[in-house]
Amino acid sequence: MKILQQIPPLRQQIRQWRQQNERIALVATMGNLHQGHLALIAEAQQRADRVVATIFVNPLQFAAGEDLSRYPRTPKEDYEALRSAGCDLLFAPEEAVIYPDGRSQPLTRVEVPALSDTLCGIHRPGHFNGVATVVLKLLHLTTPDLALFGEKDFQQLQIIRRLCYDLNLETEIVAVATVREADGLALSSRNGYLTTKERAVAPNLYRILGEMAQAVERESSGFRQIEVRAMGAATEAGFVPEYFALRRRGDLQPAERGEKDLIALAAVRLGTTRLIDNLQIG
Ligand code: PAF
Repeated sequence: MKILQQIPPLRQQIRQWRQQNERIALVATMGNLHQGHLALIAEAQQRADRVVATIFVNPLQFAAGEDLSRYPRTPKEDYEALRSAGCDLLFAPEEAVIYPDGRSQPLTRVEVPALSDTLCGIHRPGHFNGVATVVLKLLHLTTPDLALFGEKDFQQLQIIRRLCYDLNLETEIVAVATVREADGLALSSRNGYLTTKERAVAPNLYRILGEMAQAVERESSGFRQIEVRAMGAATEAGFVPEYFALRRRGDLQPAERGEKDLIALAAVRLGTTRLIDNLQIG
């Protein structure tokens, strides 16, 4: 596996593969790789000739006071995991390569307002502009035929799809199912922050999402009532809930009974850790 930190050699390698008519897939990550990331690599290998992974802890998507400085960084383990998985190229730039004029400079940013100003966007102002900006940069730098993203970050996935649609990017965005622990907890780099006691509480997030899905399918209660009940169940389980929401999958707007293609989404705090998860319904 080739490891590159600079843009010119990355572009040169991509050009060479393109000249050989090879199909290129991008898996963008912030490192601290787990089985969820490796599922993205495996799916990419099925669909492309070359797999490019990126590791970049993007400061632009962390608001002041969030966990940028403590975000887990495990470069050696990550390189080894990618190498064993058969990844072709790792692009792992320093911050100055991605933001050469510094990120406090007025920087061109990408905004996807239709999908960003709701759910996590309310609780993490500016977060999705940071994600959209860096993802567009990575798509331009690697010009992939396809890019794969996990369904665990469902709002992020829809924002990236919309970004590609609105800005006429040719890259196909491929969604990959969430990988879970045996007890249902969605894999996340942030799970490493949990204490033993919190880790025992964490699977209740998926359980409550399951109860929301059951209520949608088996009861006649209104959706707002189901959301309020889920917030109560989360508090009882030991979380500080930010939101439990029943939305339409396509545009993430509030859903009503009778609509199809729904999703239950949630964000909670557990001690100092913020967890998100979702469950598609119907
Ligand atoms: O999901 C992530 O790890 C990040 O948000 C991404 C897509 C790599 C952008 O920094």
